[in-house]
Amino acid sequence: MADLSTTYMGVPLKNPLVVAASAISNYVDKVKRCEEFGAGALVIRSLFEEQIQHDDTTMADFLERAANISPEIHSSFYPPIDFGGGREHMMWVEKTRRAVAMPIFASLNAVTPGSWVNYARQLAETGIDGLEINYYYVAADPNVPGSELEKRLVDIVASVKQAVDIPVAVKLSPFYTSIAHLVKQLEAAGADAVVLFNRFLQPTIDIQDQAIVNEMVYSTPQELKLPLRWVALLYGRTNLDLILNTGVHTGADMVKALLAGAKAVQVASALFINGLPYISTMLLDLQNWMGEHGYSSLDEFRGAVSQQSVRDPFGFERAQYMQLLLAQE
Ligand SMILES: Cc1cc2nc3c(=O)[nH]c(=O)nc-3n(C[C@H](O)[C@H](O)[C@H](O)COP(=O)(O)O)c2cc1C
Repeated sequence: MADLSTTYMGVPLKNPLVVAASAISNYVDKVKRCEEFGAGALVIRSLFEEQIQHDDTTMADFLERAANISPEIHSSFYPPIDFGGGREHMMWVEKTRRAVAMPIFASLNAVTPGSWVNYARQLAETGIDGLEINYYYVAADPNVPGSELEKRLVDIVASVKQAVDIPVAVKLSPFYTSIAHLVKQLEAAGADAVVLFNRFLQPTIDIQDQAIVNEMVYSTPQELKLPLRWVALLYGRTNLDLILNTGVHTGADMVKALLAGAKAVQVASALFINGLPYISTMLLDLQNWMGEHGYSSLDEFRGAVSQQSVRDPFGFERAQYMQLLLAQE
């Protein structure tokens, strides 16, 4: 049997399938089932600052204040948050951590620099193995340049890293102009890994009611191509662990992620669509592929199809647009 073990930010994982931050972690029983079906690790759903603030103030007051700082707070990128408050979240993270043996990571989405540090510290005290910074900001303010937004993220990462002694991953949105440059800045700020990429629910418009509608739409396997390309481009160019996320739906997708250079993958939609037992199917498919190709460990093929390893290094950059376009009837 091939050895599927890997590490994520120095934390040993028995395999590279990490259950992504999602509603799966709402129930300790589900987290236990993820472990039973073989998951390598799990990220607990983010603690959003709306939850935290709900302890001290009314939701309406908070949303009004927060909208001036982060327009994201007003939009529903995730299903309705249950306003349990910061303290409840910490207790629940601690309970989840104790319930399983696999590594457990927490995720934080705060607004103000002070609260990033404060809640990162509290999460670290729950005994989690690492922290994921879920930073997302809709750059809707025409007065704020992209470089300023990047600086805010880099500063948050640097201050969180100073405040905690557990590894810190940064889950990035794909909407940055120079992802490679940002990754280097995050590395200099002390981050241990980047998760490429987060996926956001975009609101649509109901034309009957002429109103905004937020609906849960799971990812499709086609969405794998964007993170795959970026992992392949960044592999060998950064010391950060590259964790591929969005569009991983099969064992074959995991193979692609590893060939591109990922240390591990994160999976959510495929588990909502197929159920938690599907974790073992994906892992078995990875095992079988490795067996068929004579690989006994992930290191033997990780990064084998990254940009630095392939014969046509421009394949990931220009992606042969001309040939493809000309070939269309
Ligand atoms: C129901 C649901 C809840 C989610 N909640 C969070 C969250 O709390 N924090 C976060 O960073 N990502 C959250 N996500 C995003 C996932 O972690 C993941 O980044 C995204 O779904 C892309 O992976 P996938 O293609 O495997 O679904 C959520 C996704 C789903 C489907």
